[in-house]
Order: sequence, then C-alpha cells, then structure tokens
Amino acid sequence: MNILVTGGAGYIGSHVVEELQKSGFTPIVYDNFSTGHEAAVPDEVQLVEGDIHDVRFAKHIMEQFKIDAVIHFAASSLVGESMTDPAKYYFNNVEGSLHLLEAMRGAGVDRMVFSSTAAVYGEPEAVPITEDSRLAPTNVYGRTKLAIEGMLADYDHAYDMRYVALRYFNAAGASPTRDIGEDHSPESHLIPLILKTAQGVRKQVSIFGTDYPTADGTCVRDYIHVCDLAKAHVLALKHLLSGGSSRVYNLGSENGFSVRQMIDSAKKVTGVDFPVVEEARRAGDPAVLIASSAKIREELGWEPQHSSVDEVISTAWKWHKGHPHGLSLIHISEPTRLRRIS
Ligand code: UFG
Repeated sequence: MNILVTGGAGYIGSHVVEELQKSGFTPIVYDNFSTGHEAAVPDEVQLVEGDIHDVRFAKHIMEQFKIDAVIHFAASSLVGESMTDPAKYYFNNVEGSLHLLEAMRGAGVDRMVFSSTAAVYGEPEAVPITEDSRLAPTNVYGRTKLAIEGMLADYDHAYDMRYVALRYFNAAGASPTRDIGEDHSPESHLIPLILKTAQGVRKQVSIFGTDYPTADGTCVRDYIHVCDLAKAHVLALKHLLSGGSSRVYNLGSENGFSVRQMIDSAKKVTGVDFPVVEEARRAGDPAVLIASSAKIREELGWEPQHSSVDEVISTAWKWHKGHPHGLSLIHISEPTRLRRIS
C-alpha cells in the first residue's frame, strides 16, 4: 500500500519511513526541504519536492501514486520560535494542514495519521498525563497542533475522514540500522545539545533551572525512542486501514528523567566529562511531563522496546559521532536528485 509521508525527510518522519518499509508499505516522501534533509530519505524511496500549501500539486501526487493514506509530519516545530513568530506557525501548521486535508478530500484519500504533541496539555494538573487531561497549551506550537486535532475531528464528523493523532512526549535517539538522526537548526533540544558538547562542537551544556519542585531541582521529561514512535505510527496506520475509527493517543515511555540524570547518563555513555553550567529557568517549561500511554498499549498493543535512557543516548551518540555538523553538509549524489519530482 502507498503511504504519503509529508515531512518524511525530517527527524521523526525519516524514522517512520524506515519502519513503513520494514512493514511492507511503500512510503512516498512529500517534503519542501525547508528543514528536512534529502540525505535522510533512502535511495529507493520516491521523493517528491512539494509544499502542503499547494493543494493542486498535492492532490495530483496523491492521485498519481494511488495513495491509500497520509502520515502528516510537515510542520514548524520549535516552541521558542512559535512564540516570536506565531504567523509562521499558524500558516505552516494550521493553514498547511487545512490545505493538505483539502488535497486529500479532492483525491479521495480519507485516512491520516497525524503528528501531534504533548505540548497540547501545557502545564499538567497531574502526572502521568492521560488523553483526557486538560488541554491548555502554553505556547503557540501546542495551540496550532491542538487546532489541527480539532480540524481533524470536524473532518471526520462531516466527511468521514478517519485519523489517529499521536501526541509525542520527548522524541529522542536514532535508528540503530540506518544513518538518520536528530538535526535541528537552530538546535534547542536537550539531547543533541548534550551530545554536541560531548563532541566538543559546543563548549558547554546549560541546565535551564535548578529550583523546580523535583528530586534534584531540574525538569523531568519522558524521553521516548524515535524507533518506538515509528512503530506506533505503523500500528495507527494499520488500525485505520482495517476500518478502525478515529483515535487520539499519547506516546511516551511512562518514565520521567531529570535534566541532571540525562547529563549523567550521557557522561557515562560517551565517557566524556563535558562542562555543565546552571542557568535560570527557560520560560514556559513545565516542571514534570510524564505520559500515560496505557490507551495505545491496550488498544493497539504498542510496547516501547528501545526507550531506556542509556539506549536513547547511545543510539543518538552513535549518530552524532558520525555527523558532528548534522546532515546539512552531506553531499547528495546525482542519482538521489533524480528521484525528485517538483
Ligand atoms: N533543557 C536544558 N538545557 C538545554 C535545553 C533544554 O536544561 O540546553 C531542558 C529544558 O528546560 C527541558 C528539558 O531540557 O526541561 C527538555 O527540553 P527540550 O527542549 O529537549 O524539550 P521540551 O521538553 O522543551 O520539548 C519537547 C519537544 C517539543 C514538544 C514538547 C512537549 O521538543 O516539540 O516536548 O511538551 F512540544
């Protein structure tokens, strides 16, 4: 079956492409390369250079490749930037998703797995966070993803467009089998920043806040291995393709680790005692975010297998060691370029 993966050249998208191939699906990557990397897409996968805003082109591609379902990652996803440039986030995320849904409707494609986020919850009233917890995003990024979830529910109600929205906690780690990993620009995520420091590419890693009401005073997060996330997308896809109804699921490991614990684990895994400095809190960071993923475990049989902190960090470390400057400097061979349709 043919699956259109918007944003398939990005970090999570490229790992899902790998898992789709392993599971016998044919992924077609649809990406505008604003943040994605051509090198993250395997040679044998069809690449389409396109924008989700381009309704006619997206519809044409869905018809040409006889697409059975869409997995939708294409989005702007930096929390800090979303606060300083909300227009970009409402345009790329909300309006872009609306355009993609219209292309799907035009092409008669009626199944979508959607990349949502734990940021839809904001500051939690209690942990672990279940899907029924209060939805009160504290940043624009979370508000745009919540708006898209609402749009999907309305499209389901009115047009029978079935979806699974997956609310990720902290995606981390890298594929142990393919040469893909986490590379944002600018980088703001804890694990890549720690590992770039261990490599000597950055001078020091900052701890944002040591006065939180947690055991060691630093923020606690739920880190989930990107390969476990990828498996959940395939389960969600199979659920929809076998006639399942729309669903919303959390994806987390259900374990919390503090910033200090992540730094200690990285020092152990890398064998490097890199410099760490303590700084003030970063605005908008909740103290503790831990998922309950009971719903997807019970309903779809999802079971995270790679999300121990050491495995998360060691797979990320293996990738970072090979890519001290990320993916952007990798030379793309001619045959790879020929895969593009634009
Ligand atoms: N942190 C530091 N120093 C750094 C960077 C981060 O101490 O240099 C801390 C943060 O304060 C936070 C933790 O490390 O407590 C994790 O920070 P990240 O930026 O890696 O991730 P966030 O938890 O802020 O955000 C993640 C995803 C978002 C998503 C959010 C959901 O990256 O896309 O979870 O709540 F929206």
